Amino acid sequence: MPAPHPPAGTKRAPRIAKQAPPRVAPESGDLDDVREAAHDCKACPLWANATQTVFGEGPEHARIMLVGEQPGDQEDLQGHPFVGPAGRLLDKALAEAGIARERIYVTNAVKHFKWEPRGKRRLHKKPGEAEVSACHQWLERELELVAPSLVVAMGATAARALLGRTTPVEANRGRVMSLHAGMQVMITVHPSYLLRVPDALRDEAYARFVKDLRVALPFLKDAHRR
Ligand code: URA
Repeated sequence: MPAPHPPAGTKRAPRIAKQAPPRVAPESGDLDDVREAAHDCKACPLWANATQTVFGEGPEHARIMLVGEQPGDQEDLQGHPFVGPAGRLLDKALAEAGIARERIYVTNAVKHFKWEPRGKRRLHKKPGEAEVSACHQWLERELELVAPSLVVAMGATAARALLGRTTPVEANRGRVMSLHAGMQVMITVHPSYLLRVPDALRDEAYARFVKDLRVALPFLKDAHRR
């Protein structure tokens, strides 16, 4: 199992927004109960313009959990995480890293799509600290119930949601760090970044993403499987 490292260059930031968000996630129940309750979440205003809550999916006791930022346009319409262009790229990279998607749990820091209109399109809008904070209760419950050995934070929003502080992605990517007892975290880029990177740099950026994902592979064989 790779050894944990402390994150480099982290900046302290409050884990919780100034005003505590309403607690709506049930404290008890299994993952299906919590997923069901999340469908009615109104802990922040994002529900109003989203089609539906997009909760995490995957085996209840997956050894690896992948965390993205928030559902995109396709995820919002279909109700499943990472099924749009970024999801297709993620699937390809996972396959190349030797990780079967059906063996991992995939979720997001924020469970509703935040967007703004641009002509006929719904343009992704980065979730703010208050929205990430309000949604953290769902991620917390997923972490408790799935109890993965490794959580992969894809991008800065996921890293911040998991670590509670701004953590530079580039300086920390691909390293296994301690999250809390029995759980480790590894940061990498968000697959959407690979879709935006200039053509000349795309192959290398993609290869580095696959290399980061390979770091997660030993955790699939974790002996502490429940
Ligand atoms: N981007 C994310 O962060 N999550 C998704 O589910 C899709 C795109």
